[in-house]
Amino acid sequence: MFLKELNLSNFRNYKECRLNFFKNKTIFVGKNAQGKTNLLESIYYLSTLSSIRASNDNELILKGQEVAKISCVVNKYDTDIKLDVILNPPKKKVIKVNTLKKTRYSNFIGNLAIINFCINDLLLLRGNPSDRRKWIDDAIGQLYPAYRDRLSRYNKIRLQRSNLIKEYKGKASLNYYQQDFISVWNDQFIIAGSNLVHLRQKFLKEIQARAMEKHKHISYGDELLCIKYNSSVAGDFNCLEDNVQPPGLIAELFEQNIKKKQKEELIRGQTLIGPHRDDISFFINDLEARQYASQGQQRTVVLALKLAELDFVENIIHDNPLLLLDDVLAELDKFRQQYLLDSLKKNTQTIITTVDVEKFDSDYLKDVDLYTVEAGTVRR
Ligand SMILES: Nc1ncnc2c1ncn2[C@@H]1O[C@H](COP(=O)(O)OP(=O)(O)OP(=O)(O)O)[C@@H](O)[C@H]1O
Ligand SMILES: [Mg+2]
Repeated sequence: MFLKELNLSNFRNYKECRLNFFKNKTIFVGKNAQGKTNLLESIYYLSTLSSIRASNDNELILKGQEVAKISCVVNKYDTDIKLDVILNPPKKKVIKVNTLKKTRYSNFIGNLAIINFCINDLLLLRGNPSDRRKWIDDAIGQLYPAYRDRLSRYNKIRLQRSNLIKEYKGKASLNYYQQDFISVWNDQFIIAGSNLVHLRQKFLKEIQARAMEKHKHISYGDELLCIKYNSSVAGDFNCLEDNVQPPGLIAELFEQNIKKKQKEELIRGQTLIGPHRDDISFFINDLEARQYASQGQQRTVVLALKLAELDFVENIIHDNPLLLLDDVLAELDKFRQQYLLDSLKKNTQTIITTVDVEKFDSDYLKDVDLYTVEAGTVRR
């Protein structure tokens, strides 16, 4: 696929911005705080309907304005698709595909597939569990668009259930009606959550196989990467050795664990179990990378993960997703930089931001569209 046009209005520090892409390689260069990441963020939003960094849509709107618009034209299998997003919080965002309004996110997501790799990702292993969950949730959401709908349904149920637990906080035991009420919520919570855990296991199993190979290559065959999905619902899932559990089995485990936790949940007045509390850990030759790996080793893991994601997405959609590299290429040493660039298919559209174009290999700069970004304006 190829991103042909990007149009922004009142998005972040852009009043108006119209961009056309011509080549497979685009570089946005500019000093700090000029709007380079904001451009990639808008593309990320058109792909996932979620921001890379903002916790709410208000942050995405140019200060002093109320409505922001992001749109693009993407060419897929020789057909142009127009995507529009209108942000006008607290109203629900308006999303359109080829000018037709869509009510479900799943009817929008999947039109523009991207892999985003930014400097923060280099800290993925050391970051918060929520960063790692966001990584897989956004990635799975692109592959199985219904995942986003399920995730938001799960979060709604979780909120309702949490409110109930808060209301019952401090009770040593519940009466018949209260127990019945909570059981109704538990049933829905379990169905919604088990599916998420199942799809996460499935995704990580695919990533494991691919990332391990890439990781072996970058580490000269010395190191074995193993991913573990640590679930409060279904226990630890070793992506190398374990088989993906069917949703029914996960639901049974969820039910058992939720019963075990009920007392503690009531004491603390909090939901203590569910995929929203799960995490992912990475092991190199059986040692947990977060604690034991050097900075270079951690970067290698992240690079292998991102390339595995790229490979997996390509395989599923039978097309090349866009690759967004925010500041990251210059952070990799020559060998890793070259490995990443060599791993790209010839027609993978790559959009890169950097403060310093000098750091790029002169070979790479040969057939590149170079833009300068300065205070919310982009010049070719
Ligand atoms: N909602 C908003 N309204 C107006 N300006 C905003 C808004 N959100 C962010 N900005 C501004 O956008 C700029 C940051 O843009 P961005 O993160 O894209 O910078 P960058 O060019 O990637 O910089 P760096 O090289 O440091 O990563 C900041 O100056 C910030 O104040
Ligand atoms: Mg930036």
